[in-house]
Amino acid sequence: MTTMTTQSAPPVWRFARRVEGAGDGVGAILALADPGDAIALSGGFPAPETFPTEVLGDLLGQAVGRGAPVALQYTATEGLLALRATLRRWIRWGQGVEPPEDGLIVTSGGVEALSLLARCLVDPGDRVLVESPTYLGAIDVFSGMEGRVEAVPTDGEGVDPDALDAALATRPTPKLLYVIPDFQNPTGRWWSTERRRAVVSVCRHRGVPVAEDVAYRELAFDPEDRPSLWSLGPDVVVQVGTFSKIFFPGVRLGWAAGDPALVAAMTVAKQGSDQCAGGLGQWLAERYLAGGHLEAGLRAARSLYAERASALGSALARHLPQGCTWTRPEGGFFAWVSAPAGVDTAALVPEAHRQGVAYVPGVPFFPGRNETRHLRLSYSRATAEQIDEGVRRLGRVLAQATEEVQR
Ligand SMILES: Cc1ncc(COP(=O)(O)O)c(C=O)c1O
Repeated sequence: MTTMTTQSAPPVWRFARRVEGAGDGVGAILALADPGDAIALSGGFPAPETFPTEVLGDLLGQAVGRGAPVALQYTATEGLLALRATLRRWIRWGQGVEPPEDGLIVTSGGVEALSLLARCLVDPGDRVLVESPTYLGAIDVFSGMEGRVEAVPTDGEGVDPDALDAALATRPTPKLLYVIPDFQNPTGRWWSTERRRAVVSVCRHRGVPVAEDVAYRELAFDPEDRPSLWSLGPDVVVQVGTFSKIFFPGVRLGWAAGDPALVAAMTVAKQGSDQCAGGLGQWLAERYLAGGHLEAGLRAARSLYAERASALGSALARHLPQGCTWTRPEGGFFAWVSAPAGVDTAALVPEAHRQGVAYVPGVPFFPGRNETRHLRLSYSRATAEQIDEGVRRLGRVLAQATEEVQR
C-alpha cells in the first residue's frame, strides 16, 4: 500500500531543450517597446481606421443568424471549403497563378503558418537561411524548433544570389530560405524583379525550398508589378500570408500556399495544434472577400499608409541628427533607421520612453543579435501629427547619443 503525504513540494519544471533560453532578452527588449503613454512608433499594428466595422456589423449579424450552422461550427483542418475557393481565386487575381485545391491551407495567422512549416521541415540543428535583418517572429519560430538560423547576405535589392548559392552549397544543406520580398518587416524594403527571379532559380537549382512571407504585399503605395516568388516558382516556393494587415488582426487568420505534399504535412501538423482555425473568422473572411469588400478596404488603407509614410519621411529629414540614415518605404508599415556606429538603440529605449516616444530597437531582428545601431519605426498606427512629434523626440535622444559616441 502506498502512503500519500500531505506535504507538497513545488513542481520542478524540466523544460524541453527547445524552450531553454527562449527569448534571450528579446522579451525584455519588446516589453520596453510597449508604448505606455508614449507616442507609439513601435508595434506593427494596423490603423484601427482600416477595420471594416460597418461591413463586419452586417456580417456578424448574418453569422449568428442563417450562417450559424457553419460559422459557429468546427471546420475542416485545412479550412472552410468556401474560404479556400475564394482565397485561391483572389490569389490568382493578384498573382496570376492559382494554387491547386490541395495546395492551400488556412491557418490561425501568419505566425501559425510559419510554425507549421517549421514543424514539418526543421529538425534540431537544421540550417534555416534568412535575410538579415528579418522578422523577429520568424527567427523565434525557427529557433524554437532548434533550427540554426543563419543570415544570408542581402543588399538594397534583396538577397544576393551569389552569396545564397554559396550558402546553399555548404553542407549540411539548409532546409529552407525564409524571405519577405515585399515591404519587409523591419526595413520596409522590397526586392527587384531581377532578384526575385535569380533567387527562385538558385533555390530551384540547389533543391532548397523558399518560404515567401507576403504579410505586406497588398499594401503597396504604387501600382508597380512585383511578381511574387511563389508565382515565379510554385514548385520550389511556399507562400505564407496573413489577414492581419488587410482585414483585422483580431480574426487571427492566415494561409499557406504550396506543394500539395507540403500542405498535406502541414495539415497533419495542424491536427496536433488547434485542429482548425476559428470557423467564425473564416466565415467572415469568406463573406468579406466574396462580397468584394477587400479591394475597397485595401484602396483606403494604402492611401492612409502612404500619407503616414510620407509624414514619417518628412519628419525624419527634419528631426534626425546628421549621420543617421533611413529607408523610404513604398508600402507596408515600417521604416528602418540606422544611427552612427557606436550608438546602441536598445540602451536608448528607456530615455526615449522618458521623452515620450516608443520604437523597436533593431537587435532582435538580426539572427546573430550582433547589430546595435539600428531601430524600426512603424507609421501604421500614428497620425501625421504624432509621427512628427514622436520623431522630434527621437531625434533629441539620437542627437545626444551621437554626440556622446563621437566625443
Ligand atoms: C513579416 C510578418 N509575417 C507574419 C506576421 C504575422 O502575422 P499574424 O498576425 O497573421 O500572425 C507578421 C506580423 O507582424 C509579419 O510582420
